[in-house]
Amino acid sequence: MPYTFTKSQALFERAQRSIAGGVNSGIRKLETPVPLYFTHGRGARLWDVDGNEYIDFKLGQGALLYGHAPAGMAEAIAAQAARGTHWAGQCELELEVAERIQQMIPSAELVRFNNSATEVVTAAFRLARAHTGRPLILRFEGHYHGWADEGLVGFANPADKWGDDEHPAQLHPSQGVIPEVLGKFVVARWNDIAHLRRRVDEHRGQIAAIVFEPALCNTCCIEPVAGLMAAIRELCDRDGMLMISDETITGFRFGAGCAQGYYGYRPDLTILGKAVGGGLPFAALAGTKAAMAKILSGEVVHAGTLNGNPLCLAASQWCLDQVLALGGTHPQGIQALGKKLMAGLAALAAQHGVPLHPQGPGLIFHTVMLKPGAAPGPVNDYRDYVRRHDAPRWAHLRRCLLEEGVSAIERGLWSISLVHTEKDIDEALQRAAAAFARHAATWKPTA
Ligand SMILES: Cc1ncc(COP(=O)(O)O)c(C=O)c1O
Repeated sequence: MPYTFTKSQALFERAQRSIAGGVNSGIRKLETPVPLYFTHGRGARLWDVDGNEYIDFKLGQGALLYGHAPAGMAEAIAAQAARGTHWAGQCELELEVAERIQQMIPSAELVRFNNSATEVVTAAFRLARAHTGRPLILRFEGHYHGWADEGLVGFANPADKWGDDEHPAQLHPSQGVIPEVLGKFVVARWNDIAHLRRRVDEHRGQIAAIVFEPALCNTCCIEPVAGLMAAIRELCDRDGMLMISDETITGFRFGAGCAQGYYGYRPDLTILGKAVGGGLPFAALAGTKAAMAKILSGEVVHAGTLNGNPLCLAASQWCLDQVLALGGTHPQGIQALGKKLMAGLAALAAQHGVPLHPQGPGLIFHTVMLKPGAAPGPVNDYRDYVRRHDAPRWAHLRRCLLEEGVSAIERGLWSISLVHTEKDIDEALQRAAAAFARHAATWKPTA
């Protein structure tokens, strides 16, 4: 029997009376039929208040690389909580964490901690502008860099306003943004090296940094085309811009060396979030000594009451030890499981005549639902995705999956954890088979 969500529904109705809109992050409203209320998790499994058990590929928006409630991490946090949760001062743990990051990421010569990647992005942009004395940041359409004024320019450009292919618009999805911020960004399309060169040349001498998600996980999990990372590095070196790798999602998921190790490039600054804290509010800015110099000198302000919080540090130390202990066997292990899941979903889609295509490196992947008549083949950039992805049909299938106990991120992103097993993948595919059958029998296009 498909799952029902009666208790979550009742809690969500109650929440309307105390929490603005019923949720604490706008994106959680995308959950259908109702934002879910959870009771506990263990390993790859998660349970909600209605007693529904999920094989979880959402993993706290990707933060839970080590699965739900790992025992060792709970012990590390509890031991630290007994000694103190917050000092707004120094402790040896912060060196332990910083040194582990240094050990794993060659470009991380120095680090600074924050509590969210959104904060780290803000710090990185400020640093880049101070380092170069230039006003502009070049970023790519469809890439997400946190929810602040500066993080979302050009993220979700609507098709009727996105401008021509050569000049993507600097739009922000939120009202209330400082209007001048929009003019401080140059937006380029992802995966078109010749176009990127032209965008840089148009603003040559004015651009402080190029920022990117190395694999575009926030839009369709689009990996960089061959030569893109080398081209960004070359342009940055040529023009004295900083290369900023936003590894909030890819950090440690793509191995100890993160996406920069996986794809083989060396950025000036790296943004780490999610897996670096394993579900606690912890994030880091890492960079070369040269790029971090103005934080060192104090000319660039970087601060925060809870920065380097010992509770988060205890969790992070435990997390990084897991990655270190796996050495070269990570990321291959989770990649093999991810590829198996991708192949299984593709087979189910073919069997039921559903135009669903998984894409991505397996460590994380996206399921694209093609619109009727859309050309097959990998999605290459944000515009291509908007043009070809059938969002309502995907939402219908995703709800069927959820009702069978398979949970992926609402927009179609699936993450694998270090504790998922072959058995979890087999069971997820068995459950997915029922979801595909129900979807194929009940889906009716709205238009
Ligand atoms: C690539 C990227 N950068 C930055 C952020 C912002 O992270 P946070 O939500 O921790 O502020 C996110 C969040 O999903 C992200 O995916």
